[in-house]
Amino acid sequence: MADETIEALLLEQRKFPPSAAFKKNALVVGTHLYDEANADYEAFWSRQAEELVSWSTPWSQTCDWNLPFSKWFVGGTLNVAYNCLDRHVEAGRGNKVAIHWEGEPGDTRTITYAELLSEVERFSNVLRGLGVVRGDRINIYLPMIPEAVVAMLACARIGAAHSVVFGGFSSQALADRINDASAKVLITADGGWRRGDVFPLKPQADEAVASTPSIEHVVVVKRGNNDVSMKAGRDHWYHELMATADPKCAAEPMDSEQLLFLLYTSGTTGKPKGIMHTTGGYLTHVTYTHKYVFDLHPETDVYWCTADVGWVTGHSYIVYGPLSNGATQVIYEGVPNFPGNDRLWSIIAKYGVTIFYTAPTAIRTFMKWGTQEPAKHDLSSLRVIGSVGEPINPEAWMWYHEHIGRGNCPIVDTWWQTETGGIMISPLPGATTTKPGSATFALPGVGAEVVDEAGNTVTKGGGYLTLTNPWPGMLRGIWGDPERYKETYWSRFPGRYFAGDGAKLDDDGYLWLLGRVDDVMNVSGHRISTTEVESALVSHPSVAEAAVVGANDATTGQAIIAYVTLRGGAEVNETDLRNHVAKEIGAIAKPKTIYFTPDLPKTRSGKIMRRLLRDVAEGRNLGDTTTLADASVVTELQNRAAQSSED
Ligand code: PRX
Repeated sequence: MADETIEALLLEQRKFPPSAAFKKNALVVGTHLYDEANADYEAFWSRQAEELVSWSTPWSQTCDWNLPFSKWFVGGTLNVAYNCLDRHVEAGRGNKVAIHWEGEPGDTRTITYAELLSEVERFSNVLRGLGVVRGDRINIYLPMIPEAVVAMLACARIGAAHSVVFGGFSSQALADRINDASAKVLITADGGWRRGDVFPLKPQADEAVASTPSIEHVVVVKRGNNDVSMKAGRDHWYHELMATADPKCAAEPMDSEQLLFLLYTSGTTGKPKGIMHTTGGYLTHVTYTHKYVFDLHPETDVYWCTADVGWVTGHSYIVYGPLSNGATQVIYEGVPNFPGNDRLWSIIAKYGVTIFYTAPTAIRTFMKWGTQEPAKHDLSSLRVIGSVGEPINPEAWMWYHEHIGRGNCPIVDTWWQTETGGIMISPLPGATTTKPGSATFALPGVGAEVVDEAGNTVTKGGGYLTLTNPWPGMLRGIWGDPERYKETYWSRFPGRYFAGDGAKLDDDGYLWLLGRVDDVMNVSGHRISTTEVESALVSHPSVAEAAVVGANDATTGQAIIAYVTLRGGAEVNETDLRNHVAKEIGAIAKPKTIYFTPDLPKTRSGKIMRRLLRDVAEGRNLGDTTTLADASVVTELQNRAAQSSED
């Protein structure tokens, strides 16, 4: 055991096969897609591209693989906005609702495919009027309002690449991203609604633009009605430009490898990386995965992904995947606890949501808030529920299954990254028997293997997750830095894409994600995954959420330090909880110290910042805290750590 790359400690035996009722109408029930893709993955992707995407000219080569650079559907041309809008309208589905939008204060908008198309055509002309041409970069810094979708699709329509920056990011983060991409236009809003108040965006945008020489124009959507200053000649109101814009804008064919967007993701070190995604391969990947992973029946389903368009999940599974598939979806502007902790469940009941996609961090928060919140609403419309962003602890999975899925919705735990563009590892809901906490298997068309330190394939036990074949949605590089692209993803294991995640394979060949390998702990020579200890803690009935880090220890190399948040009203003492972990996964994984805390430090996308917790545990000064969602959480933890060392 001790020489395993990462030890596999947690044993999860529960299994959930798809029900007969679900299988009856499911798009995929058997193994035929896997069989087809295993025989020839390129031919498989080629068939998906042909069936699911409309092309202006066919491609001459499916994949040009010049490791680590790939091109897909080489020579083919298409327009992404045409695929997301025009083709549905042309097919007579113009009156189908594309977006049920719900503002945080309770205002709503219903937007059909025909209406969305018309808005996008106008805005495409607005951008052209501001001098935007094919190949330019456009920054988008907006709340979760329909104009965010319009802006992205308008860029795609005219061949400009968008770079969306999450509305919660600071002016400095925005300026850095604008400058890295040399963007010409910034699209923002006066403000948006969050937790009952207007949060201003335009003032931040003004501050950013003061140091971004490439920005020529700023377009401002009126949403918050907060006071803003407009600089003559540079700043323009969206509604004023739209009122005079030409209503028709033809969708021009783009090369399959035309840059569709940049999305910045922070690495462990250095400046954020501008991840590059292109047109034909990306659209094929997200359309295919959105259809099959969620078992989408566009005529009857109402889909809802709770992500923000500032993250890749919002790009792939709010904008491009769902709209390309002609889905009807819900988009919600605000936070899940305004005006009450049951807002999301009330939205599901209101719109009859059938497919719901959210993140483990949200699920664990719902656990803290208690089962009475979802119980207030009729969730019987739901039929598939999904998870993305972090490993989902088995007990959080079970809670999701019981209290949101009411025991009869398949759960799709989808592993992927900003870099992969679309989902890579996930169950297919009508075909896969799930196990709580496992993302199960690579999707048809995707090659994933676990390897050890030396790069040898592991068939059972823990190691590093690698991808073995190119895939259509893969990043095409890091903007302006091809060397960093090679170095970051392709140098650790020659010939393989290394994702940075640990994973294990169980006896049945199921994949279990073990978290980022930077987070793996080394306790007395045992490599232990933070995810498994966290899952053991969360399996205690009193615990809602846990974060575990390894802190330097004179005796054991590293010692396990746990930060634990309890479920509403629950109590447990430290010794009992340490013993619970020993019982679940073994004495080696028992935390040395457990701190109880009402909150954990998280990034704005909801990922636990273990690096900060390590700093706290080791009594260091904190490094960069700018990506932290709520900085007061860490100060509180530091105070507690200082107190306990005085005790
Ligand atoms: O560590 C994995 C984790 O999130 C990372 C990618 O983060 P990001 O680029 O922000 O994209 C998030 C949305 C796709 C991965 O390297 N991750 C994502 N999904 C899962 C996951 N870890 C475990 N299980 C998942 N389902």
